[in-house]
Amino acid sequence: MFNPYGLFAMPTLETPRLILRRIAMCDAKDIFSYSCDEEVARHVLWSAQKDISEARAYCRDLQRRYRRDEPSSWGIIEKKTGHLVGTIGYMNYSEENASVEVGYSLAHWLWNGGYMTEALARVIDYTFDAMDINRIEAQHELTNPASGRVMEKCGMRREGVLRQRLYNKGKFVDVALYAILKGDPRPLTSAKEPS
Ligand SMILES: CC(C)(COP(=O)(O)OP(=O)(O)OC[C@H]1O[C@@H](n2cnc3c(N)ncnc32)[C@H](O)[C@@H]1OP(=O)(O)O)[C@@H](O)C(=O)NCCC(=O)NCCS
Repeated sequence: MFNPYGLFAMPTLETPRLILRRIAMCDAKDIFSYSCDEEVARHVLWSAQKDISEARAYCRDLQRRYRRDEPSSWGIIEKKTGHLVGTIGYMNYSEENASVEVGYSLAHWLWNGGYMTEALARVIDYTFDAMDINRIEAQHELTNPASGRVMEKCGMRREGVLRQRLYNKGKFVDVALYAILKGDPRPLTSAKEPS
């Protein structure tokens, strides 16, 4: 059952072109349609899905996370089509440090249209305005500069390169670490959470 009081309540959020909402089992088809693409999976820690059952398993895992108030993801819905076209969410939450990491992915056919920047800016606003979080981190493989650009446009600062930090798809990869603090400027702030 949805826990409206937990830290990871994941309420529905809106941007000019997108709705961010909790993922339901009926989203599996949309998720599979872009997550089966090797290009989308190239720089993330999951592999391209081979069968829709993998998308269903992902949706089931998220239902468990929502129920247990664990770090989880929103589905990104394109208002124009009503389809779920990506995800954005949390991982690596540290209560003692009031920090959390964000990660995201988007259907290939929508890249470079500004969607993920729009989604991340909204999630940063929500995280700082409605959650007890002081630091949001994100990391990307050096060979995936578009993701770093999204972070930069949202006011995240590049803090350094962590050499061979991840083992992904058969090799060790260097990643750039980005972060934004609650007190940092937010160049794309739009809607504010009610106080
Ligand atoms: C990374 C990703 C989320 C970006 O989403 P998006 O909606 O295309 O991002 P935006 O359109 O908001 O911004 C992309 C920016 O990167 C820039 N960019 C694209 N390719 C680039 C490249 N090879 N080098 C440098 N910048 C690049 C774009 O020009 C744009 O910047 P601009 O607005 O200054 O022109 C999307 O490509 C994706 O889902 N990739 C697969 C999954 C993934 O890699 N997730 C992130 C893991 S860290």
